[in-house]
Amino acid sequence: MAKLKLRFFPDPVLKKKAKKITTFDRSVRKLAQDMLDTMYVEDGVGLAAPQVGVSKRMMVIDVHAGTDEDPARPIVFINPEIVEAEGEMVGQEGCLSFPGVFFEVKRASKIVVKFQNLEGKEMRLECEDNLLCRAIQHEMDHLNGDLFVDKAASAIQRDLEMTKNGLMQGDLEELEQKYLAEGGTLKVRSRSSVEVSN
Ligand code: NI
Repeated sequence: MAKLKLRFFPDPVLKKKAKKITTFDRSVRKLAQDMLDTMYVEDGVGLAAPQVGVSKRMMVIDVHAGTDEDPARPIVFINPEIVEAEGEMVGQEGCLSFPGVFFEVKRASKIVVKFQNLEGKEMRLECEDNLLCRAIQHEMDHLNGDLFVDKAASAIQRDLEMTKNGLMQGDLEELEQKYLAEGGTLKVRSRSSVEVSN
């Protein structure tokens, strides 16, 4: 097992559009396995290749990671494309490249994704209203150099979380007041079950 080094915000590799994978050889299988090893060790439910410094269109997801529903059920997505998206859902999101930061993000509630598996075979997956649906959209953004901080449902909640975790300069008290004023709830700093990182 090989654990890769995570890249954290503001590492420039996170803002790059990743390249398509065209050969399905041993090195691609090794990258997938190393990414899964890294994701499980870091307690994430998803990981995209740019997050380990590899600008290629591969991402791994296991929404059962860390739950009672073991054994692991990983999915490796190569060159994924969302071919249908509809509806809307808002929910808490985290990212392994932004340790400790969690805020609400709006996503499509139903998607159909096309991708290739490790053998290069075309696959198709549909999901609706669940963590998998959210994780796929989050990881696909990584492949395009897009980060969840640009998709926050509330810019104040995001700034509050970024400031709390030392990723942004800001007046914490003022942000808390503003967030309460817009109807937000301040949370106690203990990891909740809805806080999973991608
Ligand atoms: Ni992420």
